Amino acid sequence: MSEAAISAEGLVRTFGDVRALDGVDLDVPEGTVLGLLGPNGAGKTTTVRVLTTLLRPDAGRASVAGVDVLKHPDKVRSLIGLSGQYAAVDEYLTGRENLQMVGELYQMSARAAKARADELLEQFGLADAAGRIAKTYSGGMRRRLDLAAALVVRPPVMFLDEPTTGLDPRNRMALWVVIEQLVAAGTTLLLTTQYLEEADRLAHDIAVVDRGRVIARGTADQLKAQIGGERVEVVVTDSAALPLAVEALTPYAIGEPTVEPHTRKITVPVTGGARVLADVIRELDAREVLIHDIGLRRPTLDDVFLSLTGHVTESETDEDDEDGDAESPDGESAAGRRAGRKKARV
Ligand SMILES: Nc1ncnc2c1ncn2[C@@H]1O[C@H](COP(=O)(O)OP(=O)(O)OP(=O)(O)O)[C@@H](O)[C@H]1O
Ligand SMILES: [Mg+2]
Repeated sequence: MSEAAISAEGLVRTFGDVRALDGVDLDVPEGTVLGLLGPNGAGKTTTVRVLTTLLRPDAGRASVAGVDVLKHPDKVRSLIGLSGQYAAVDEYLTGRENLQMVGELYQMSARAAKARADELLEQFGLADAAGRIAKTYSGGMRRRLDLAAALVVRPPVMFLDEPTTGLDPRNRMALWVVIEQLVAAGTTLLLTTQYLEEADRLAHDIAVVDRGRVIARGTADQLKAQIGGERVEVVVTDSAALPLAVEALTPYAIGEPTVEPHTRKITVPVTGGARVLADVIRELDAREVLIHDIGLRRPTLDDVFLSLTGHVTESETDEDDEDGDAESPDGESAAGRRAGRKKARV
């Protein structure tokens, strides 16, 4: 692996009684994306603030692009982009003027700054609103303008703290594409997110942060494998066939089957992957059980997150199912609900 573009060792930071960072170690190899995941208050933003020179740690060391964050903060600032840093989106300038201003602050010629501004406005779906003052922008539009501002100078190392919170699905995906292009061009990225599918899609490596510490680290697949938990899910066409279907599945189950009569769904924990799925289909067929839907479900990052940071659900215990699975009746995860709340704040 190439050398670390971002590295942190033993970062500690307290605010009064709160140990926001309790010994954070991180390293992000050049040209890769690290996704920082963690529940509210885990220390993600504090980590980003330390690494981007906005906050001094009480202890520990950090460097960005090989430059010591504590010794040479000015140098570090010239090498990084941070979403939120230029949220000084000037309300009374137009979208285009905002981006041009950033370019000119970074010594781009007026022409180059305008060209870059137009390119970004197009990429972020703001071309039509480019000539309007930012004061008239919606929350999602401001968020995109802010991100575009962080990208004006194509810094080698970027920090994005919850870049897509508050964006609708279409704009979120558009931003993912922009981020993927950046990374393909060699940018190193540290990204915090509450959207696990975002980490799954964008991050090479994931660090799960909890109570100011990194409690797990690996690729999405490694983290999923770590908690195990393959299951077969079958939805039968007719709920009268549920008992027969359970009978067919039982020999393959390595734990208790779960039956949800209202959705006609049976879930059984299994091992053996696709082979089991084929066997199960044969067994169901032999009993003439009509299958509406069947699939092998591997754990999602949601499952990983909840299993690792079990206490995430503490403040939400009253909303949990009896089996401790923090999914609400509509299937939205606790993380999703948290994200939803944040969204409401944007
Ligand atoms: N300036 C501050 N003054 C006091 N406490 C702070 C300050 N900044 C952070 N904290 C506390 O430090 C802890 C970590 O906060 P941080 O903002 O880093 O969490 P986070 O992981 O970014 O959470 P979220 O998902 O809600 O954004 C929290 O308990 C928070 O209340
Ligand atoms: Mg935060």
